Amino acid sequence: MNADLVVVGAGLFGLTVAQQAAERAGARVEIIDIRPHIGGNAYSRMDEETGAEIHQYGAHLFHTSNERVWEYVNRFTSFTNYVHRVYSTHADEVFPLPVNLGTINQFFRAHYTPKEAQALIAEQAGELAGVEAKNLNDKGIQLVGRPLYEAFFKYYTGKQWQTDPADLPASIINRLPVRFNYDNRYFKDKYEGLPTDGYTAWMERMIDDPKIHVTLGVDFFDESQPLNKAALVGKVPIIYTGPVDRYFDYALGELKWRTVDFEEVRYEEGDHYGCPVMNYPDADVPYTRAIEFKNFNPERREQQNPDKTVVWREYSRSAGRDDEPYYPVNTQDDRDLYQQYKQLEDKEPGVIFGGRLGTYAYYDMHQVINSALTAYDKRIHPLIAK
Ligand code: FAD
Ligand code: NA
Repeated sequence: MNADLVVVGAGLFGLTVAQQAAERAGARVEIIDIRPHIGGNAYSRMDEETGAEIHQYGAHLFHTSNERVWEYVNRFTSFTNYVHRVYSTHADEVFPLPVNLGTINQFFRAHYTPKEAQALIAEQAGELAGVEAKNLNDKGIQLVGRPLYEAFFKYYTGKQWQTDPADLPASIINRLPVRFNYDNRYFKDKYEGLPTDGYTAWMERMIDDPKIHVTLGVDFFDESQPLNKAALVGKVPIIYTGPVDRYFDYALGELKWRTVDFEEVRYEEGDHYGCPVMNYPDADVPYTRAIEFKNFNPERREQQNPDKTVVWREYSRSAGRDDEPYYPVNTQDDRDLYQQYKQLEDKEPGVIFGGRLGTYAYYDMHQVINSALTAYDKRIHPLIAK
């Protein structure tokens, strides 16, 4: 291996750092990933039968208001004009989300103005005014009133946590989104879209440089292959984007994550939902939502199968060591433990921890790219520039 920099993890953090190091420092970069593909959780693949682009680790929507990030990503891909919208099936009816004036008027069979709807929700939220919220249910009622809370938030959140909402702490929510107009655009960012020819093509172009070499299917902790921790630490600068507790062999304990299981359903019809995301906020449906991937790319209709579609249902649960870690649980105990691991990091010569697993944080794609660009400017370039 003749590298000036080793990057552990071919997700958006690692790819951004590798791209910058090759371009700005002329560095030779070796990227390794334990998975058989690049892209980390943003990886996607084409489904031959339907022509859908399946987001292998859950639906990924790109959106940002950060000018530097938008300019950066547009060097490697263009974006479609996709605008994210979500619907929700409650009590055998389909409502628009986030809860907005359309949802409220359909739910109450009314024609409230924004002001009238606001007054109604304030009155319903007053049911528990001045009471200390003992659990998620109390808090939800205080935020949006009992009817909307019970219809759209209570069981959805309960399913996400696999816990009876009466046993969930009030602290897991600070606000619940309700809009008093008919805007059901999901994101508020300045820029939004999906990569025109897919996530993986975008990310392949980021590292299309002879100075960047990728080795897939290798575990940084497997000493039977040469690109491992024991062989490399202290000898070459390393960017580590795997789980921080795993790096230290869980010496201080495990950081807790939640994961999602996907159940695939195929239908003999061109379009099953008429939209890409259908939420199921009721208790009698075990999954939280269903993703119909074809509908993320309506501009590809000509290349898609008109008679078949594929849907993934999502089931949320807590992750064990062998599951894909998706969302940090982030209790106070977890945050304290992460701070302890951070102190161990300072003793690792030339190793920089980054990305969502390396810093125990939830990041959207634009946030992780921004954090990689900043880490490169401040900490990595000074380490490798000749
Ligand atoms: P990752 O993509 O996780 O990359 C880390 C890489 O390290 C992985 O490829 C892993 O295999 C590798 N690795 C780990 N351990 C080892 C080891 N021992 N040896 C070698 N390699 C190792 N963001 C959005 O902007 N919009 C969305 O709609 C969106 N939806 C999401 C939905 C879900 C279910 C999830 C989980 C995330 C979503 N995100 C979304 C966030 C997005 O996935 C992240 O911002 C991004 O993937 C983070 O990149 P990363 O490089 O930090 O981590
Ligand atoms: Na991506």
